This record gives sequence, C-alpha cells and structure tokens, in this order.
Amino acid sequence: MRKIAVFTSGGDAPGMNACIRAVVRTAIFKGIEVYGINYGYDGMINGNIKKMQSHSVSNIIQRGGTILKSARSEEFRTVEGRKKAYEQLKLHGIEGIVAIGGDGTFKGAKVFFEEYGIPTIGCPGTIDNDIYGTDYTIGFDTAVNTALEAIDKIRDTAAAHDRIFFVEVMGRDSGYIALECGIGGGAEFVMIPETKTDLKTVVKSLKNLRKTKSSSIIVVAEGDDEGSADFIMEKVKEKVNDPDKEFKVTTLGHIQRGGNPTARDRVLASRCGMAAVEGLLKGESNCMAGVVNGDILYTPFEDCIGKTKQLKEDHLRLIEILSI
Ligand code: F6P
Repeated sequence: MRKIAVFTSGGDAPGMNACIRAVVRTAIFKGIEVYGINYGYDGMINGNIKKMQSHSVSNIIQRGGTILKSARSEEFRTVEGRKKAYEQLKLHGIEGIVAIGGDGTFKGAKVFFEEYGIPTIGCPGTIDNDIYGTDYTIGFDTAVNTALEAIDKIRDTAAAHDRIFFVEVMGRDSGYIALECGIGGGAEFVMIPETKTDLKTVVKSLKNLRKTKSSSIIVVAEGDDEGSADFIMEKVKEKVNDPDKEFKVTTLGHIQRGGNPTARDRVLASRCGMAAVEGLLKGESNCMAGVVNGDILYTPFEDCIGKTKQLKEDHLRLIEILSI
C-alpha cells in the first residue's frame, strides 16, 4: 500500500482533528503518502482530495471541529454516487481509506468496500458513544464534560430560586451523554431513548419536592420517547399543578459538539488513528479500530452497525439510588 486517504463524515466531534493528525503522521512515519478528502463522501464524489504533509496537521490536536470538514452525503447513498467516488479514488491512486465518523459513516464504508474492495478502516468519531466495538467514541468525553459544566451552572441558579430545570442534551438515539452528565451532575432524573420514561414517578417526586429538596435537575436526551424537554416540561408542569413551583428548560444543543477535546478524547483519537493506519498495512479491512477494555481492537463494520452497545445497568441504578 503506497497511498491512503482520510476523511471525516457525519456530525463532527471534538477529537476528530487529533485523529486526522494521527492518521497523517503515522502514514508518513511508515513511508506512505496520505491524502485528505474534504467534506466526507461528498468530497470523495467531487474529487475534493489533496495531499497532506506532516505540517498540514500542525497545531490541530487541541482544536474542535474537523479541518477536513464534514457532511452527510445523500449522493453517496446512490449506486451512481459511489461509482463516481470510486473513479476519483482511482484517479488519485488511493489504495486504502480511513473513515472517521459514526454508524452512518460505517454503513457507507461497508457498502463501498463490498462494491469496490478498497481496504477501509473506520475510527469511531461521534459524541453519542453509540458504536459497538469501542468502550468510548471520540468526542464523547468532551461532550459530557461540556454538558456537565452547564449543569453545574444551572444547578447554582436552580438552587438559588428553588426552581425545577429540564436540561436537554444531545442524543437522538442514544442516552449516553444524558446518563453520564446526569450522574456527574447529580441529576434527580435522567430521561433517555433506551428506557421507557416514567412521568408518573417524576410528577409524584416533584409534588413532594419541598419536603426533601427545594430544586431539581432533570436531564433529557433529545431522543427521549416522551418527546423534547420543552414538551415533557409542559406535561409535567400541568400534572404537578402547583403555582408555587417554577419550571424552566435549557437546551444545550450544539455547544456539546464543539470546543477543545479533553485529554481522554485526544489520546483515544490518536490511538485509533494510528491503529487504523497500522491495521491497513497489516491487511485489516472493512472494520473499525476501537478501544475495548483498554486495548485496540478491530471490529467488523457489520458488528459496529448491527450490534447495540448496551448501557451499563449500574449507571441506570446510580441515578435512582443517588438522587433520593
Ligand atoms: O450524532 C451526533 C449528533 O450530535 C446527535 O447527538 C444529534 O442528534 C445530531 O448529531 C444532530 O445533528 P445535526 O448537527 O445534523 O443537527
């Protein structure tokens, strides 16, 4: 293998730059050429591909976002789009690919590999932490810490005014961010897509609030089965039916996607990036380089996409037990 390419795709995540840096520098260290594809699969289709040098990735390890930009490509979902992408890669002599992204990125990579056979390894880049085959995804730790910092601040003002706050965090299909910032922030309740939300218990607890505590923080993952934090707050407020209790909603939104990656994310990103290039050179393909129980592990894309990473059962119990 003499030439490889790297790209980022799907929602950006803090640490993607550290991963790009690791891919580029590992490739150069191993004596192979490395190309950066801008805007994910769209850039592959349009030939938005340029050679990268060691200095192309200088001073980026600490930066959020992605210097290669990102996109969610509709055209790559089509047979014609993937054909165009293959032709561009052939034109540039690309013999291996590192795809940094989440499950959508890996679905595309798997289909593309099956059609055209270019060796491909993924690195798990998403704040959602919902990828099977890695304990953590790149960006998750940073997103949780961003949300936690916000929750700490909200708790100050919630306590000062005896208010009930619903804090909405990201996670369309995944409750990992909600759960971890809920545990870390001492939330009274956490509502996530993976479990049935029991509003009756929440209402009962809030009705009794001043007997035990005067304020409350409820973390809601954006994909919760009961709806958005705004919607849930209105429902709960109506049921609590107490004019002395004040309800507020804060939606954290995309601030969770930006910012300087934490040390954990930089190290994870660097390890996965290096492992992806080393894997390609050893003949690994159609798989993701992740970290499981502290060690690098290559998991087939099929499992990363098809299997569900289970939430830790004790995490769910922690909220219930520690919030009394
Ligand atoms: O997949 C990462 C994620 O941040 C989800 O948590 C969120 O639901 C989604 O992306 C938002 O996507 P967009 O930035 O395209 O609105």
